[in-house]
Amino acid sequence: MEDTDTRPQATEGAATAGLPQDADSILALAARSMFHLFSSISQGMFLVDRTGRIVWVNEGYKRFLPALGFSSVEQFVGHMVEEVIPNTQMRQVLETGEAYLIDLLTNRAGTFVVSRIPLRGGDDEIIGAIGIVLFDHPENTLKPLISKFARMQRDLDDARRELATQRVIQGAGQRPSKYTFANFVGASPAAVEVKRQARRAAQSSSPVLLLGETGTGKELLAHAVHAASARARGPLVSVNIAAVPDTLLEAEFFGVVPGAYTGAERKGRDGKFKLADGGTLFLDEIGDMPQSLQAKLLRALQEGEIEPLGSNKLVPFDARVIAATSCDLATLVREGRFREDLYYRLNVLPIRVPPLRERRADIPALVEALGEDIGLRNGAPLPEVTPEALALLSAQTWRGNIRELRNVLEQAAMRSDSPRIDAPQLEVVLREAGIEKIAPVAAMQPVPGHEAAAAAGDGASPLRPLAQQIEELERQAISAALAASGGNKLAAARLLGISRATLYDRLNLIV
Ligand SMILES: Nc1ncnc2c1ncn2[C@@H]1O[C@H](COP(=O)(O)OP(=O)(O)OP(=O)(O)O)[C@@H](O)[C@H]1O
Ligand SMILES: [Mg+2]
Repeated sequence: MEDTDTRPQATEGAATAGLPQDADSILALAARSMFHLFSSISQGMFLVDRTGRIVWVNEGYKRFLPALGFSSVEQFVGHMVEEVIPNTQMRQVLETGEAYLIDLLTNRAGTFVVSRIPLRGGDDEIIGAIGIVLFDHPENTLKPLISKFARMQRDLDDARRELATQRVIQGAGQRPSKYTFANFVGASPAAVEVKRQARRAAQSSSPVLLLGETGTGKELLAHAVHAASARARGPLVSVNIAAVPDTLLEAEFFGVVPGAYTGAERKGRDGKFKLADGGTLFLDEIGDMPQSLQAKLLRALQEGEIEPLGSNKLVPFDARVIAATSCDLATLVREGRFREDLYYRLNVLPIRVPPLRERRADIPALVEALGEDIGLRNGAPLPEVTPEALALLSAQTWRGNIRELRNVLEQAAMRSDSPRIDAPQLEVVLREAGIEKIAPVAAMQPVPGHEAAAAAGDGASPLRPLAQQIEELERQAISAALAASGGNKLAAARLLGISRATLYDRLNLIV
């Protein structure tokens, strides 16, 4: 191209000294100024003519050219858009005249959030289209949005599961346990140990405290403990403390006597302690319990009696309590946000539910079990996951644990139109979900039966920022120490030769 000015030439002589008064001139100026605004705030922009030929790229777009295989603008401009930008949808925009305001585009240059807008001439005919790269690396720039989406997806999954259970209850007239130990997939030493502890807890009637990161299976285990306990025929009643407003929690827990309130509560209602009579009360997210209620819960657990709102009579209850949290309760106690006496009351049978990265050997079995379930829901079996893809899964950090693994598999299944999910496809899903690798695949413990595949993974270069490598190493060392100490943070800190406070600091950074 001879033209070195990268801006498209203005077609109208709008450059007048005075401010334009008529709508058409203002509009023409607005169009130009919007164009320049987009050109400067976006990551890159290009134009195609009505035949789909690239006619112009702006300064910003030039930086994507090497990744697309071009060393200069001259080589790039003049080609049909689909020849030079794999997976582009610009052709559809030209054909339908419809804009894609926001879309994700993935090709060999990476994943991008893009806009595609048709351009129309004076007679409203399509004269070309404009492609805008709004963000590159959306996995970083859009992280808050993506994590919010992941949270919403998680709530949706939970709500669906709850609904499915409600239907079963209505059908059977009684609340069954959703899960048993058979549903807890895993034969790794860490999984076997957690099941052993949970089975032992099922034999007792003392409170159980399930501690573990989000998505590790705490709720599943609570159900399994109930189902394996002497109370299995009784009800299992769950309260998600984080989901109930503080002001309503007391009534939710202890109930309200008739006449205590006017309005909807006039008739009174039973609290969860009463509803769980003869069965199990599952207090989920116990770390979110307000202080005022902590005192009342402690009293209830100590005395075996509750006091419904509006009554001054104590009523005995008979429910076994299982509590769960993904908070670090010991830290909350240290910081004075959780009562120490309640902590010890609940901490009679603590069970630490290990994160997925401490039981990578379970990943192939989990993929199979989750895949079967996803297949049942979607009405089509999950495509086969290749050994390389499995090795890639085994190399991830999995901060969201099994729930996150499940989401990734669902995404991969949705996008795959082949009978296999392979490593490159999975890489795209992982990148877009903002999931980061903990270690290069090649350096990972091989997945049993897939040693060759693990060895074939992409090695991470030592020529990366030192801080990143140190962080990875720290993360691995802390995970290993926690695994070796059975989750005891004091012992883990000793093993690592650091103070417990430093360990907590690091945990906050990496969990
Ligand atoms: N060992 C396992 N085998 C199979 N599925 C599992 C296992 N552990 C968890 N899951 C599944 O993973 C999802 C998350 O589990 P669960 O809700 O029990 O986690 P959680 O620890 O309570 O998480 P949160 O703290 O976020 O509430 C569920 O769909 C559950 O069925
Ligand atoms: Mg839970």
